Amino acid sequence: MRRAARARIDLSALRHNLRTARRAAPRSRVMAVIKAEAYGHGMVAVARALAAEADAFALSCIDEARVLREAGVMLPLVVLQGFRDAGQLIEAARLGDVQPVIHSAGQLDVLASAALPAPLRVWLKLDTGMHRLGLPPAEAAALQKRVAALPQVAGVPGLMTHLACADEPERPETNAQLQVFDAATADLSGERSIANSAAVLRMPAACRDWVRPGIMLYGASPLVGEQAQSLDLKPVMTVSAPVVAVKRLAAGDAVGYGGSYVCKSPRTMAVVAMGYGDGYPRHAPSGTPVRVRGRRCELMGRVSMDMLCVDVTEVPGVAPGDAVTLWGEGLPVDEIAAAAGTISYELLCNVGGRLRMEYGG
Ligand SMILES: Cc1ncc(COP(=O)(O)O)c(C=O)c1O
Repeated sequence: MRRAARARIDLSALRHNLRTARRAAPRSRVMAVIKAEAYGHGMVAVARALAAEADAFALSCIDEARVLREAGVMLPLVVLQGFRDAGQLIEAARLGDVQPVIHSAGQLDVLASAALPAPLRVWLKLDTGMHRLGLPPAEAAALQKRVAALPQVAGVPGLMTHLACADEPERPETNAQLQVFDAATADLSGERSIANSAAVLRMPAACRDWVRPGIMLYGASPLVGEQAQSLDLKPVMTVSAPVVAVKRLAAGDAVGYGGSYVCKSPRTMAVVAMGYGDGYPRHAPSGTPVRVRGRRCELMGRVSMDMLCVDVTEVPGVAPGDAVTLWGEGLPVDEIAAAAGTISYELLCNVGGRLRMEYGG
């Protein structure tokens, strides 16, 4: 049986948000980050909707590149985790204009010994302080020279790094990372890319030849403590589910597993067909906002696998079949994420592939 919960994706909001990124970084080209099924929004649909707006797409793996090429998406594709073996490199070369990121010495060895049908454009990722993926900045010059000389490589390798703390612009780590990057690459040619969404909006110095916005495209705020709306971002995904039952509860009645919510007074409660099995966060506590008939209501008790309960005492006429908004239009996903102790990225990714997706705009 198909679940009734659905995610409506507003493609015109997506395009609007990309234009917001472009305005914030007017001298940069835009590599739209659409990995992880475009943060749960559906990678192919998002790529098609942005094909005329973005300059390239950033993915995490070569398999995603194949899916996009099969769907007829022809923009350059940058693969942020690069490749694991020569087979993947060969596939990247066959697909055409797929640009792997090289972040480890092991990948360099694989590249140097691969027999490719065509040379590839590549990026070198430098670890300037995040200490996740990346090559030592001190070796940037030697590595770029070595890679550029390989017959498997076309043109001058690009230079990239990723910021660890850009979502909190007052933190000193971001400037420190920029300094490390600039010192290591000052005398080198090749295109540069540093900025994620937060840096696009708050760090012009990080906006180099290419910017890599992700979360902002989907209309969530990349900045701690700042609302998406005030950054001129529009919500792209609106998640809704129907009411399946309405109940009157007396003072003292306990709701749901563990009876963690006890009514202080008589309440009217709506049971909604959405739960953690659909991607709603189980850790969202009582009081988390839910939108019913245009009014903000509150979650009651624990979220179940395929249901959650909402206090609709103040909303007249709620009935089975009414659509309830869990986040999106009129209810920022950032608010739900904060209530559940997580980030919007996780909520958006979690519903991807689980809910019925409907595209419009
Ligand atoms: C290397 C890299 N660049 C850019 C991004 C986009 O970041 P954001 O979604 O915060 O804009 C990501 C996201 O994880 C990333 O891993």
